[in-house]
Amino acid sequence: MKVSVIGCGYLGAVHAAAMAELGHEVVGIDVDQRKIDALAAGKAPFFEPGLPEILTSASASGRLTFSTDPAAAADATVHFIAVGTPQKPGSYSADMTYVDAAVDGLLPYLKDGDLVVGKSTVPVGTAARLAEKVKSAVPGADLAWNPEFLREGFAVKDTISPDRLVYGVSSDPAIAAASQAVLDEVYAKALSEDTPLVVTDYATAELVKVSANAFLATKISFINAIAEIADVTGANVTELADAIGFDARIGRRFLNAGIGFGGGCLPKDIRAFGARAEELGRGESLAFLKEVDSINLRRRQHVVDLTVDLLGGQAYNKRVAVLGLAFKPDSDDIRDSPALDIAVQLNGLGALVTATDPEAIGNAQAKHPQLHFVESIAEAVQGADIVLLLTEWKQYRGILPADIDGLVAGKTIVDGRNVLDSATWREAGWNYRAMGRP
Ligand SMILES: NC(=O)c1ccc[n+]([C@@H]2O[C@H](COP(=O)([O-])OP(=O)(O)OC[C@H]3O[C@@H](n4cnc5c(N)ncnc54)[C@H](O)[C@@H]3O)[C@@H](O)[C@H]2O)c1
Repeated sequence: MKVSVIGCGYLGAVHAAAMAELGHEVVGIDVDQRKIDALAAGKAPFFEPGLPEILTSASASGRLTFSTDPAAAADATVHFIAVGTPQKPGSYSADMTYVDAAVDGLLPYLKDGDLVVGKSTVPVGTAARLAEKVKSAVPGADLAWNPEFLREGFAVKDTISPDRLVYGVSSDPAIAAASQAVLDEVYAKALSEDTPLVVTDYATAELVKVSANAFLATKISFINAIAEIADVTGANVTELADAIGFDARIGRRFLNAGIGFGGGCLPKDIRAFGARAEELGRGESLAFLKEVDSINLRRRQHVVDLTVDLLGGQAYNKRVAVLGLAFKPDSDDIRDSPALDIAVQLNGLGALVTATDPEAIGNAQAKHPQLHFVESIAEAVQGADIVLLLTEWKQYRGILPADIDGLVAGKTIVDGRNVLDSATWREAGWNYRAMGRP
């Protein structure tokens, strides 16, 4: 199929390359010239495992091109909208400016028979509104909503082999059938591998995405709330999570207590979902998401307070080593990263923060040049009064006391992700502190 992907960020760049890898002829379009130049040269503009490989092979096949010109979409018949929907400044709602601009920019090039496919995460009601817009500009074109569930760090695999597909289609059965036929062809490989498919209406498709993220955020904040109780009772939240996780109705995944969630999705999505519920006169239905959000934000404050406490009551002029800046391992994404937030807060309290991360230093430095960034664990912990492990990269999970014993000034470590073995560190003479674990 001839496909355009409008918006080539974390979602769109992977989607474009993966669609080409699957045999489609793809043009990726973005307003960011630097991103397009990099992608056109076969270079990934951000860190995502496996993306450089499929970019190279798709570009070599001649099936993948990039442009900043919306007119480049004219030859395609399927148009994915993958632009950002960040939190609107001064509000909890989603900023829909980019989605509207992307669709408006596409309209002059749409033809009868084309299908516009929304992938961005949007407030419920958006698809119906945009379908009207598309229909009134080009009566023979249609719109479907096909939310994306990829996880950064696994985005290539999740795009080529998704765990499910959701199509939100028109309420007109003939239009719905035509849209489904197009999407079935786009996703022929995944469907041939028996990927579960849910075909539904626009509102349900939009709500599936935000409900999934609301559920995941709630699960994380649930275990973090229990960690707060564990902290004051001497209980062990990790053992507790193991024990409750054996119940198949609960499940063990996403029950790791720590410094909370961040990134470009969960925080803004739960806020936008709550804001949309208020607009719909059902604010009380999602009021619990405010609690989920505040439990999550409290985790960052908890680590800052704990660090100050361990430093003897003040951070001023103390050397703090921060291991990890990305919001999660295997990503360079620092959007709303709890790790970076903690580093910045401690810096604001006068601590001398030296931070490292395998991939996110460039992004972190651009946003917070006041921090001191170094490339290696050894440089980060040199002379440190305290070490904070804040993103659970494989490299950091494997650290042993002997690796850094001789470098630090003080043997105190805060394991913000509960990934180190407490006994090993204590036996080596360290003051080891974790989240909700004695
Ligand atoms: N990142 C993820 O893991 C993920 C997963 C599922 C869903 N989503 C959703 O996908 C959407 C995109 O997220 P992202 O993380 O890729 O964001 P991003 O900020 O990385 O990428 C958005 C891109 O859109 C481009 N853009 C903005 N306006 C444009 C326009 N008018 N025309 C063309 N390009 C334009 C920007 O330059 C940017 O490159 C969001 O709604 C997000 O919630 C993201």
